[in-house]
Amino acid sequence: MAHQFAHGTYLVTGASKGIGRSIALQLAAHGTELILLARDKKALQQTELEIKKLHARSNVSVFSCDLSDRKTIERCVKDIRKRHKTLAGIIHVAGYARPGYFGELPPEEFEKAVRTDYLGAVFLTHGLHDLVESGGLISFTSSVVGYMGVFGYTSYAGPKFALIGFAESLRQEMISRKIQISVLCPPDTETPGYAEENKTKPYETQALSESAKLMTADAVAEKFMRGVKKGKFIITCNGESTMLYRLHGIWPSLVFRIMAGMIQKAQKKRK
Ligand SMILES: NC(=O)c1ccc[n+]([C@@H]2O[C@H](COP(=O)([O-])OP(=O)(O)OC[C@H]3O[C@@H](n4cnc5c(N)ncnc54)[C@H](OP(=O)(O)O)[C@@H]3O)[C@@H](O)[C@H]2O)c1
Repeated sequence: MAHQFAHGTYLVTGASKGIGRSIALQLAAHGTELILLARDKKALQQTELEIKKLHARSNVSVFSCDLSDRKTIERCVKDIRKRHKTLAGIIHVAGYARPGYFGELPPEEFEKAVRTDYLGAVFLTHGLHDLVESGGLISFTSSVVGYMGVFGYTSYAGPKFALIGFAESLRQEMISRKIQISVLCPPDTETPGYAEENKTKPYETQALSESAKLMTADAVAEKFMRGVKKGKFIITCNGESTMLYRLHGIWPSLVFRIMAGMIQKAQKKRK
């Protein structure tokens, strides 16, 4: 049976801003206990305050943790385990994208992206998965760029593709424990992270983005909640990204030709 967010404690990473914050707020409406995690404690306390304003009796705790650093994650896992003996779910949302032309991105950026967007979720899951109850949930946040490569996202696509492969393997190991594994794949979404991303987008990436509809973080969070309740593994969020997911699965060369055509058109327009 699909996970229904009924009771228990959910750990949400990236809960201070954007999509993670919206998911935390929607979870609070289900009367669940929440553990909010990100680096900036003050920003997390702001989300905690918002939740308590809406749901005075909510039980919320915040943990500051840099998911790009394994030692810090280990310390955070210890602290969480001291205070929580079971979890209903681990919802990984934290992450970031730093677009740029491949040759212009510094090598360190590729390491940082893998540590934050991929290893952060893997190590945190490794440290806490045994606390997740039977019938519980472990979800990851990949992206449209986690199932099809996109111009300008060479450092982001690797970790986001890797998350889907990791989740697919973990899903098979979790069958016996009846733990649902889901992967949220948002399209372009209006968040503080997206605004940051726009600052370094190459011209062609910007042109591709302009052809896609921007979603709100609340709408993505709603799709996430609905997708989990339906027991979906890959959760896409709108018609366009669902169509691309299906088309890329059956005919990747056609998707490449469409993308190549759009990129060439943008490059001609620029000249
Ligand atoms: N927005 C989009 O268009 C879009 C599209 C597809 C996929 N996504 C994915 O959706 C997720 C959320 O994106 P968003 O746009 O909502 O981002 P956002 O507005 O920048 O929020 C990111 C959250 O992750 C936390 N975070 C970032 N780096 C962290 C680290 N090293 N350790 C711990 N926490 C960290 C941030 O808090 P601190 O800075 O305080 O740590 C914040 O709470 C990401 O995984 C992103 O890749 C976003």
